[in-house]
Amino acid sequence: MIVLGIETSCDETAAAVVLDGRRVMSSVVASQTDLHEKYAGVVPELASRAHAERVLPLVREALAQAGVGLGMLDAVAVGNRPGLIGSLLVGVSAASALAWSLGKPLVGIDHVRAHLYAGVLHEDGESPGPDAAFPALGLVVSGGHTSLYEVTNWRTMRRLGATIDDAMGEAFDKAATILGLPYPGGPNLDRLAGEPGANDTAVELPVSRLGKDSLDFSFSGLKTALLYAVQGVPGERAPTPPGPLTPERRRDLAASFQWAACAAAVLKLERALDAASARGTLYRTILTGGGVTSNSRLRRELLALGSRRAVPVLLPRLAWCVDNAAMIAGLGSVRLAAGEADGLGLSAQPTTA
Ligand code: KG4
Ligand code: ZN
Repeated sequence: MIVLGIETSCDETAAAVVLDGRRVMSSVVASQTDLHEKYAGVVPELASRAHAERVLPLVREALAQAGVGLGMLDAVAVGNRPGLIGSLLVGVSAASALAWSLGKPLVGIDHVRAHLYAGVLHEDGESPGPDAAFPALGLVVSGGHTSLYEVTNWRTMRRLGATIDDAMGEAFDKAATILGLPYPGGPNLDRLAGEPGANDTAVELPVSRLGKDSLDFSFSGLKTALLYAVQGVPGERAPTPPGPLTPERRRDLAASFQWAACAAAVLKLERALDAASARGTLYRTILTGGGVTSNSRLRRELLALGSRRAVPVLLPRLAWCVDNAAMIAGLGSVRLAAGEADGLGLSAQPTTA
């Protein structure tokens, strides 16, 4: 089965061709970083205009790289939720028009859940890695989402928790801004925190726990604590001057922030594993995905958690951690194989359950 995937939910326009659900024949992504850089965040109207200009050239490029003609496609899959409504509409319109003109099925895919699928994809010409065993625990950490899922199978996922304020990637981006690092902040902060000599215990920053049993996340307290460590605590009667932001201190603050953010994510995974085993459920895989799973420290800690708890952890390859259309085509193939498809009335939805 050959499926074309289209993804336009935020600021990356992407198209991909996936064979039999897991083999990525091509995956092309046009980032809009340059467009939004000067605003230090995504401007929705600029994003949807750029998607409209780029989506068809990218589809052509993905087909050409895969050596696949339009007539060879079995279906078109599109990320139709959640995201910026104007951006989603561009992808949904393009995918619906293609599916209609080819007389092929159209499948709408939840972008956040598709991130969890990225870990089972493999490149054309390489042998497939391990498949997911179910039930699985899923962690999505991206710029817009931070959620935990119980994954019964690829088509049945239940959200166990989500961030109550900032997404993890958003917190990395804001922390990077506080430290004066360029946009997009997450990868730059990761690099700085990994410099030789970086001390992740130099500054004590809070690891959010929330209620005793909560599987939700919160990153805004950590972000504020970092701000105070840089600028001093406002309104304190005898404020301790935080000291100048020397290159060494900036590096140590980056490492301390990254330590606390990763510790919070691992803590919630441990809690979810404990809560499940108390109910007699053993998760057989930990699925992960989203831009922040490219973070070097988080990757190490997730693998360490997996070996501590004897649960295999599926980490997507770096290219498929961030937004891409291969994960959309892949999960779309699973829905199609199960006989599911959406009509041409498929709508774009800004939110998800
Ligand atoms: O999944 P993604 O491409 O887009 C959304 O669906 O949101 O994730 C983008 C997010 C950004 O916040 C970016 O800073 C973050 O992922 N990110 C990282 C790293 N690489 C990307 N955060 C921390 N460390 C990284 N290496
Ligand atoms: Zn995403």
